[in-house]
Amino acid sequence: MQTERPPNAAHSIEENYLNTTSAQHRKKFAQFFTPPEIADFMAKWLLAHPNLKTVLDPAYGLGIFARALLAHKPDLKIKGFDCDPLIFAKAKAVFSNNNNVEIQLNDYINHDWENKYDGIICNPPYFKFHNYDNKAAIQQLEENIACKLNGATNLYALFLLKSISQLNKNGRAAYIIPSEFLNSDYGKLVKSYLIKSKTLRHILVIHFDENVFDDALTTACILLLANDDQSEVVQFSNLKSIADMQCLEKVISVYPNDITKKNCFNFNELNPEIKWRSYYQKQNADNYQNLVPFSNYAKAMRGIATGANHYFIFNQSKSKQFAIPEQALLPCICKSADVKQAFFTTQHFAALKNSDNNIFLLNSANSDSASINDYLTLGEQQAINKGFLTARRNPWHLLEKRPPAPIWIGVFNRTGLRFIRNEAGISNLTTFHGIYPIAANLIPENIDLLFAYLLTDIAKDIFADNRREYGNGLQKFEPNDINNAQMLDLKLLKINVKNELLKQYYLYRNSVLENQPNQNLIIEMNNILTTHFT
Ligand SMILES: C[S@@+](CC[C@H](N)C(=O)[O-])C[C@H]1O[C@@H](n2cnc3c(N)ncnc32)[C@H](O)[C@@H]1O
Repeated sequence: MQTERPPNAAHSIEENYLNTTSAQHRKKFAQFFTPPEIADFMAKWLLAHPNLKTVLDPAYGLGIFARALLAHKPDLKIKGFDCDPLIFAKAKAVFSNNNNVEIQLNDYINHDWENKYDGIICNPPYFKFHNYDNKAAIQQLEENIACKLNGATNLYALFLLKSISQLNKNGRAAYIIPSEFLNSDYGKLVKSYLIKSKTLRHILVIHFDENVFDDALTTACILLLANDDQSEVVQFSNLKSIADMQCLEKVISVYPNDITKKNCFNFNELNPEIKWRSYYQKQNADNYQNLVPFSNYAKAMRGIATGANHYFIFNQSKSKQFAIPEQALLPCICKSADVKQAFFTTQHFAALKNSDNNIFLLNSANSDSASINDYLTLGEQQAINKGFLTARRNPWHLLEKRPPAPIWIGVFNRTGLRFIRNEAGISNLTTFHGIYPIAANLIPENIDLLFAYLLTDIAKDIFADNRREYGNGLQKFEPNDINNAQMLDLKLLKINVKNELLKQYYLYRNSVLENQPNQNLIIEMNNILTTHFT
């Protein structure tokens, strides 16, 4: 948490709690506290309501929002929910002298559907690893607000949608939530609901420096909503500092008269199907011409999922131990650290094999020797056949059918995309996505041309428009993020330009395999493409 920040009275209640409770307890209840400057900013949106009387905080914590609101309007009636008995008791003690504040020890999703409020302000719980019964919560939402939601919808989005349904006429809401939903698949239905409800007025995307705020906030956004007929537009803003937020206070204080009109979109201009990053960030693709969908040239697919890696993965020693014949072992890259360079050759594979790395998968379909049958029996004794994926296969030990992909792409990274030319023709687990060129558009010899393009900074820049961001700079690309991204239309290049590109590419390949990657050759390839596509 923000230990480097100067202590202030409002925040010392949270500081004290952080110092006296375990990180484990806070993680269990997703307890992450809103910095006072942000709480104050969000409170101001509610306080600008012409007749604010009742306020709800659905994830009360220690009541930072209530304190921010009461400092300006002491007669407000505030209700809060929190499901953690420990923080609830502490919050009760903090607000014991205020009869206008009512805090309930309850799960917000299951309670209070019947009430409406003039203001709702919230920093909802955000659980990263689905350790919350989303299914039951999603069902409650779908029944109560007549909407369809994706099964992966995070709890914070459910809090938001429920709160929208609890706004009085002219009511206002301020939510701070991870910005992930703006650019994720499950976010599409959440965005549809936000458009349909016509309550969204501002999205402020936070890009503060990591050392200013906690990781969880570096990729957060503030949503300001109003249940009135005053506006049909949503304004997107980027917040790089507290000073930016103070400038925006002026904009929101004159609502519905926007004095800047910057980055405003009418509800009917917003497309819930696309990543909303394009509404608040300049797109790298705009710097180029003649772009086509990546899926015109190739298809990205996730790697093989075994459902029980420790069981299905083999190295040479393990294969000897269980006497598994060579033809029942599928050569497969199981961890990305085993691939060190942009080119993966049969020599690299042989080296991994000799150092006894885990580079095989049990491919029982290829043989039915007695030793394989023994190993399968062992698997059943260990209940491997009852796993989530294995139980859905018939037979349970059958591998997913995926031909080796000629190109791999790193799934998670901090430094931009990582492409690898799989010259060895080896299969891959989900640590990489496989890229399968579409033969009609790309004759096999031209896989190298496609890979030459993928190595360039231009390709990485354009793909970056379609990334998902997690805390701490981590980026992720699902196969469809790649498929839906744009790329330069390589077929427009004249044959001599293609040949020049390939010449630089093969020189680069050699330099990499000689362990002296020559980045100048990549720059040369960038230059060739820039000349033809800008
Ligand atoms: C992210 S913290 C925010 C706390 C405080 N409002 C703030 O902004 O500093 C979320 C709070 O919601 C509580 N919480 C978690 N799940 C909840 C649920 N299902 N219903 C109500 N409160 C919940 C947690 O105990 C935690 O205090």
